[in-house]
Formats: sequence, structure tokens, C-alpha cells
Amino acid sequence: MNKRLLSGMRPTGPLHLGHLVGALDNWVKLQEKFECFYMIADWHALMSEYENPKELERNSIEILADWIACGIDPDKSTIFVQSHIREHLDLNMVLSCLTPLSLLERNPTYKEQLRELKGRNIMTYGFLGYPVLQAADILVYKASVVPVGMDQKAHLELTREIVRKFNNLYGKVFPEPETVLTEIPKLLGFDNRKMSKSFDNAISISDNADTIKKKTMKMITDPKKIHLDDAGHPDICNVCSYYKVFAPGKAKEVEKSCKESKRGCIKCKGELADILIEKLTPIREKRERLLSDKKALIDILKKGEAKARLTASETMKEVRKKVGVVHDL
Ligand code: TRP
Ligand code: SF4
Repeated sequence: MNKRLLSGMRPTGPLHLGHLVGALDNWVKLQEKFECFYMIADWHALMSEYENPKELERNSIEILADWIACGIDPDKSTIFVQSHIREHLDLNMVLSCLTPLSLLERNPTYKEQLRELKGRNIMTYGFLGYPVLQAADILVYKASVVPVGMDQKAHLELTREIVRKFNNLYGKVFPEPETVLTEIPKLLGFDNRKMSKSFDNAISISDNADTIKKKTMKMITDPKKIHLDDAGHPDICNVCSYYKVFAPGKAKEVEKSCKESKRGCIKCKGELADILIEKLTPIREKRERLLSDKKALIDILKKGEAKARLTASETMKEVRKKVGVVHDL
């Protein structure tokens, strides 16, 4: 039996290129090696969106369409919505009892999010507990492999601490999951800030050709290169980073001609836009086809839910026994 893998994303808005080349391309490959559980983390999304949660349900369906359009295969992987499996919250309760407050308060991701999501009031009890629920997500399936980006590393370390504490107190139930750090190429948003939904600076997987073009033309290039025949510094240019990821075969030539003053930024960005449009158009079309049959998408989630529940309920039975909260109803 292959090792079990779990990962998730929050349905807080449209997926963008960063998700595609960071997480999703990797998830697609991992399907061949592991028994994969991919989760739409709607409770985690609610933690930051609770003041305006109207979009959550639609976003969850759209994220599912994005995943499948990018190559996540519901016949290979178990795809489900976090809030459909109540055992996550049961386990979250147990883990909350044994998680020291100090571990949560000094969590670097928590501090960073407080800074980044400035417009929201996330000084809440729920948000502080974010990593405890994340630990429950992983442990309720006894997943041993968890692929995440660097920003989630601290959460995974917290999960491991929680596992050690639980196993010490009640006997060994959970494996210590290993973090598989996803190598995320350095792609910035078109304003050169971190690509993020909250900055509205990213090309979405669902963007049409026109929007892709407009956003690409807005990208910031080497600020010292003003005229076509100025020599540029491709190593500090975000456009060049995009070439390296989306057209590695062409990146060398772009770098060379940029340095030799033989390339203008407008043409350079125009060509990049064409490359991105070619890559994203089939994904967008598949995504639209999928979204035109909502019932089929819901059926995929129902199938995933049934599979996920089998494992989650087994784990919770075992946890209840070990902890001594048993119900033979
Ligand atoms: N916190 C993760 C993120 O924002 C999403 C997530 C929730 C997750 N539960 C998880 C990732 C469990 C891995 C495992 O990216
Ligand atoms: Fe960047 Fe291309 Fe302009 Fe060079 S020519 S600075 S790589 S956009």
C-alpha cells in the first residue's frame, strides 16, 4: 500500500499562477506515488472570511474545477470538502486540549498573516487555533506525507509536536508526518510584490486571453532599462523569472538579448503573454466545461466524502478509546 498523503487549499478566491506552478503541478505528479487526499479547507477559509463568507461555497466548487482542469484526477485521488467530514472538528477538540497556548502565540505564520490580512479582524480565538485544525486535518487520516510550501513549514512542525504529545499521553496512534517542501519558483505578482489574492496582483487560472495580456503588460521590468537599446538586468526582472518557469527553452535567449540591448521590454512582455495564454487557455476551457455541469462536480465531492469518512471515523473511534471518551451508542 502506498503511503498516505494529505494536502489542502483554502477556497478564498480564484487560483493563480503561483498555485499552479507551486502546488498543483506537484500534486498532480504525487498522485502516481501516494494515496492522495486533497482537501478544500473551507473551515480554514472561514477563519479569515467570516465577516463576508458569501463567496465560500462558490469558491469551493470553482477550486474543485481548477484542480481537475489542472490534472488532479478524482479517480486517483480522494477530493473532499473539510467541513463535510465532522471528525476533523472532533479531533480538533481533542488536540486543542493538549496544545500549549504559547506554541500558537509564537507561530510565525500567524504573525505574518496578522500583518498581511490587515483589513480583516482575525484577532480571534478561531484563527489562533488555525494550526491545530490543520493538525487534525492531517492526523484524522494518519497521513504521513504532507506537501506544502515554505509558508506552512511551521504549521507542520507544530503538527509533529502535537503528535508527540498525544502519543506520549495516550499511546501511539499517529505517525509523525513528514513535510515535503514544495519547491516554489520565485514568481512575483505583476506589481513585484508577493503574489497574493489580497494584493490583487496575480494572473488567475481562469483569466481570459485579454486579461492575461493586460496583466502581463503591467509587469514591472528592470527599472534601469528605459529605452529599447539600454542593456537590461534580466536576473532582477520578474518577466525573466516567468520565462524561466513557463518557457525554460527560451529563457536563455531572452537573458542574452536583454543584456545585449537587443530586446525591448514591451515586446518581451508581449511574447510572454502569448506563452501564458497558450498554457492557460486549455485549462480555462476545461474548467468552464466542468463548471457547466455542477451536478457532476458535486458527485465527485460526494464520492470523496464517502471515502474520506471511512478513514476519519475509524481514527476517531480509536482516539476516543485511547483518550477515554467512549460512546458505544
Ligand atoms: N493552511 C494551508 C494553506 O493555507 C491549507 C491547509 C489546511 C492544509 N489544512 C491543511 C495544508 C492540511 C496541508 C495539510 O495553504
Ligand atoms: Fe525584463 Fe525582458 Fe525587459 Fe529584459 S527585456 S528587462 S528580461 S522585460
